Amino acid sequence: MEDLTPEDISQILNTSKLMKGISERDVKKAPTLRGKTIINMFAEPSTRTRTSFEIAGKRLSADVINISTSGSSMSKGESLKDMVANLEAMRPDLIVVRHKSDGAPAMISRWTNCTVVNAGDGRHEHPTQSLLDMMTILESKRKLEGLNVVIFGDIKNSRVARSNMIGMKKMGMNITVCGPKTMLPLYVEEMADNVTTSLADAVVGADVIMALRIQTERLEKAKFPNAREYSRLFGLTLSHLKKAKHNAIVLHPGPINQGIEISPEVVEGQWSVVLDQVTNGVAVRMATLYLLLGAGLQKTE
Ligand code: CP
Repeated sequence: MEDLTPEDISQILNTSKLMKGISERDVKKAPTLRGKTIINMFAEPSTRTRTSFEIAGKRLSADVINISTSGSSMSKGESLKDMVANLEAMRPDLIVVRHKSDGAPAMISRWTNCTVVNAGDGRHEHPTQSLLDMMTILESKRKLEGLNVVIFGDIKNSRVARSNMIGMKKMGMNITVCGPKTMLPLYVEEMADNVTTSLADAVVGADVIMALRIQTERLEKAKFPNAREYSRLFGLTLSHLKKAKHNAIVLHPGPINQGIEISPEVVEGQWSVVLDQVTNGVAVRMATLYLLLGAGLQKTE
């Protein structure tokens, strides 16, 4: 999201809206990317992102190949660089990368001539998640500028929080971040308008509330006493929603730990747009692939 201008973000969101129309047809297919080859390279688990990139490519008629670390020769000791060189030798047009290391997609883009899309790298960024979050907010609120958004939970380890803080700031949203002190990154005050450790305070007057999962896979040691204590202090409940604006919406990037960062009543209530986020994930990824491969945009350094 750091590389995108507000105009770029608006262009992707407008294109995503058009792409969503394709998914709503009886025949969910357009010929736009016929003859293009896309490799989804996922070196970390994923349900939503991997599936939606695959569906997005196929809805635009590209040939899509999925590879994961466990099923590739990386499990036999092949380096990432060698693997990318071998994949490039098969002449793909675009590689979608998810990796546990910050900066892996950027590094891969320097090793290859084909276009590289970041599908989530370590604690760094998850740009298409941020774009689908903004698309979902825009659908509900008809604007982004001036909205009060609360992002709460494990901010420090969340690439979703980071991409959204960068992207939403560019779109003029007022950002409040909230979490236990141990889960707030250094210099968070430079990325958000307000920082608090009280969820009850954070949600007052919110238009948008985004819950985040505790990234247990990225915690070196426990940052809170236990799940029950965490949930008591940082679990979103119906009582929090009463303090937000009457038409506030609730987002979660998934996967959800119900009963920890969010109560089941909140996930299932009318304010929840969690499954709209998933639907819009396909549209945003179609737009991303289209703009990079179909609309003649060039790779930039
Ligand atoms: N939101 C998200 O990235 O989900 P997955 O890990 O299932 O792709």
